[in-house]
Amino acid sequence: MICPQQLRLNTIELQPHILFIKSGKQVSSVKEDEEFFTFRELMKRDDDVLTASMEDYLEMVYRLSRDNGFTRVNELASALNVQPPSASKMIQKLAEQGMVDYEKYGYVILTRKGKKLGKELLYRHQVVEDFLRILGVTEGLLEQTEKIEHTLSPQTLKELARLVKYLTERPELVADYHKS
Ligand code: FE2
Repeated sequence: MICPQQLRLNTIELQPHILFIKSGKQVSSVKEDEEFFTFRELMKRDDDVLTASMEDYLEMVYRLSRDNGFTRVNELASALNVQPPSASKMIQKLAEQGMVDYEKYGYVILTRKGKKLGKELLYRHQVVEDFLRILGVTEGLLEQTEKIEHTLSPQTLKELARLVKYLTERPELVADYHKS
């Protein structure tokens, strides 16, 4: 059970314009939306944008760059619990996509495009994490957030953010829910 005081939420600002996480492309018509696809198939159709793993890296580069405006491959690798060669491989991919500049001595600097997308990814993460916190999820909160965040459509995220904002502004409602 959680009380309103325990609801420390992360969502800094709920900006409806930061919702087009992926390419912003209208992927499907209404008819297509009504068809069923396996999860794997849906993920394949997303191959013109960043993979889930690339999103994780970009989100972390954004987090780590907030103070100094840059991060380094080693710092990134340890933040994501991966080996430096894997991090540097992924950073090279992000550089190919124009998201980061990868410089000598392992410096990683976000491009304008990378900064914008990184901010959106962090926002999405925070919305999902806040939602799970409101639900009262305590076990594996971060792991669950990391798994869920990559699967949300812009509309689902927008509506989820609206719900999180609504509930955050009404802690008494949440407390009442948890008493039920
Ligand atoms: Fe995340």
